[in-house]
Amino acid sequence: MNPESNIIAKSRWLNQAKFLFLFVLSSAAMLASAQEAHKVITIETRHNAMALQVGANKRVSMIYFGHKLAHSDEYANIPSLRRQGTDPSGIANSAYTPAGSRNLLEPAIEVTHANGNTSLDLQYVSDQTQNEANNVSTTSIVLKDPVYAFTVTLYYRVYADDDVVEQWSVIKQTEKGNVTLHKFASANLYLTANSYWLNQFHGDWAREMQPQESELTAGIKTLDSKLGTRTDLFQPPSFMVSFDKPATEDEGKVLLGSLEWSGNFKIDLEVDPTKNLRLIAGMNPYASEYSLKPGEEFKTPAFLYTYSEEGKGNASRNLQRWARDFQIVDGKGARLTILNNWESTFFDFNETKLAALLKDTKKLGTDVFLLDDGWFGNKYPRNSDNAGLGDWKENKAKLPSGIGYLVKEAQNNDVKFGIWIEPEMVNPKSELNEKHPDWVIKQPNREDYLYRNQNVLDLSNPKVQDFVFGILDNLFTKNPQLGFIKWDCNAVIYNAYSAYEKKQSHLYIDYVRGLYSVLARVRAKYPKVPMMLCSGGGGRVDYGALKYFTEFWPSDNTDPLERVFIQYEYSYFYPAITSDNHVTDWGKQPIKFRTDVAMMGKLGFDIMVSKLNADELQFCQQAIQTYKGFSDVVWHGDQYRLLSPWQNDLASVLYLSEDHSKSIMFNYLVSNRYDAGSHLPIPLKGLNPDKRYTVKEVNLYPGTKSAINETLIFTGDFLMKVGINPVVNAHRASVILEIDEVK
Ligand code: DGJ
Repeated sequence: MNPESNIIAKSRWLNQAKFLFLFVLSSAAMLASAQEAHKVITIETRHNAMALQVGANKRVSMIYFGHKLAHSDEYANIPSLRRQGTDPSGIANSAYTPAGSRNLLEPAIEVTHANGNTSLDLQYVSDQTQNEANNVSTTSIVLKDPVYAFTVTLYYRVYADDDVVEQWSVIKQTEKGNVTLHKFASANLYLTANSYWLNQFHGDWAREMQPQESELTAGIKTLDSKLGTRTDLFQPPSFMVSFDKPATEDEGKVLLGSLEWSGNFKIDLEVDPTKNLRLIAGMNPYASEYSLKPGEEFKTPAFLYTYSEEGKGNASRNLQRWARDFQIVDGKGARLTILNNWESTFFDFNETKLAALLKDTKKLGTDVFLLDDGWFGNKYPRNSDNAGLGDWKENKAKLPSGIGYLVKEAQNNDVKFGIWIEPEMVNPKSELNEKHPDWVIKQPNREDYLYRNQNVLDLSNPKVQDFVFGILDNLFTKNPQLGFIKWDCNAVIYNAYSAYEKKQSHLYIDYVRGLYSVLARVRAKYPKVPMMLCSGGGGRVDYGALKYFTEFWPSDNTDPLERVFIQYEYSYFYPAITSDNHVTDWGKQPIKFRTDVAMMGKLGFDIMVSKLNADELQFCQQAIQTYKGFSDVVWHGDQYRLLSPWQNDLASVLYLSEDHSKSIMFNYLVSNRYDAGSHLPIPLKGLNPDKRYTVKEVNLYPGTKSAINETLIFTGDFLMKVGINPVVNAHRASVILEIDEVK
């Protein structure tokens, strides 16, 4: 072969090899993309699963949500079996619906790109799952716009043992300028059933957590808040959706959801034209367009949910367990009983009065004395709610020897000292307002408008964040023995305007981010101190804030009859260990009824101990000791609702220890109709059928006898099939039974 033909042959061979190589490469790519196109990403908990499918067009849709299938390769068969009409857009079941391209329904995200274009398409790039300890894993799915340098990563954090998922998104852009986010949901679920039943909650001050259940009709039902702070005042970000029929305690398919965010929220429940339910939850985009710089990330808060096919009781136990194990501060630890002075003194106290109350704390037997509002302000003394808020120095007339003296007095009495603060707010009549008018949220050109005589401080401003952190830090630096903090928040945001923000529409979101950043600093420095989350009652009860708190104040309404209902409803979402229940003078019930109701959570008192008669005092002292004997079961056990106060003469709720050896059953009469009471035995739940148990009544009022035969021994089987009658009637309006395993 001459050299020339040799070269030609070589080059032919090279060309053929190149062709072959490219062919193999492109076939592999085609195969990979074909596989990718049908890829099903499953997100599974112990009992449930969500299946997401990458379509031929790389769009990710949600094809299944429910009990998990035994064979995960079968999820892919589901879409072809559904015959519910057509979705012309092809993206009604999107895992995260982008606005502006082919969307026809409620979007999860809406943006204006750097060049002014308003369209968005999101296509699959990759997914991965990372496992952590304790059966926790996080799946992330990266989606990208094929035209713009814009990505959204969807996160699903799975707590497998609890059947709980937290879902959020991270939005990022690297375009040639700022992008405006108009909507930015945390989660977008697509759920299938014949009908959907929404159980939502509404309320106002002293009327928290009023439930309302209704069937969702075609179109959108929105749960939202625009209050800025104390955003749950009219409606909390927690709800339930039952599928096919309203779920009961022990039966039916139900999803319990809640947004982990203390600011404005928006939860849309859209029954679409194909009769599926599109659930889109996140921060409220109302007045909150957010400008995102190139390279910047926008992280949404988590939407939390659990799903059960065994009714609301099981779903709520899942959430309660998850909260204790993963979310609230010290969920597995113990809690302190409290004597608070708010209802007994209001603003009217001095050192002598408080010294006496500290002695009473000891006498009563609670762990902490909690000094409430009114201890500060000098130029503008805090003697009512219209002055002094913001001036966090002891009022010299009331407390000449300062907080330090009270902390020492508490130590001398062998109790802890706790203190109330409301650090996010300010009265116009305050030195703080005079010194830093620019720290106050209010419109510059408009008449000031107040809520409880106060404004909200601008927590989007880092200087204000430092100030708020400093209030706590100073208290702890001067009084390291401080044992408890009550963090209140009484005003909503009116006239939303920040002298600090460059873009006013960032205020609502940056406020909450600023608040969380302060709380994170507090927790980094003081990780253990018990803190109560209060907001003029339950105006701010959500898992975003509860990450930094040990407990919350459900309502200023402490009328025990009302509390039976309020606590019952909160318990669907929050464990008893988080619920601060105080015995006060609200309501007409005797002190035993009031104490029994308060025991169904974290017991405290807000009464004048010195005004109790001998029997009442003895009863309260004994009650605290009795409570200390079983509080572990209430705080850390599983809760079973036995009788609902909404449908019965009495409410009955049981807490059961993890090893099934001990349970506490609370029973309260909620009707004063003739002969109202427990006429039949109430079947218990959760016990071990093979164990044998005794039943005894606890927390009896001095001089009264129990109506329960304590000598009988029952099997768990009997107690769950037949039950026990607590003998509740007008003469025995509240009864606590302790059910112990015979060992
Ligand atoms: C509202 C709270 O809910 C009350 O318990 C009390 O702390 C007052 N604020 C004090 O102003």
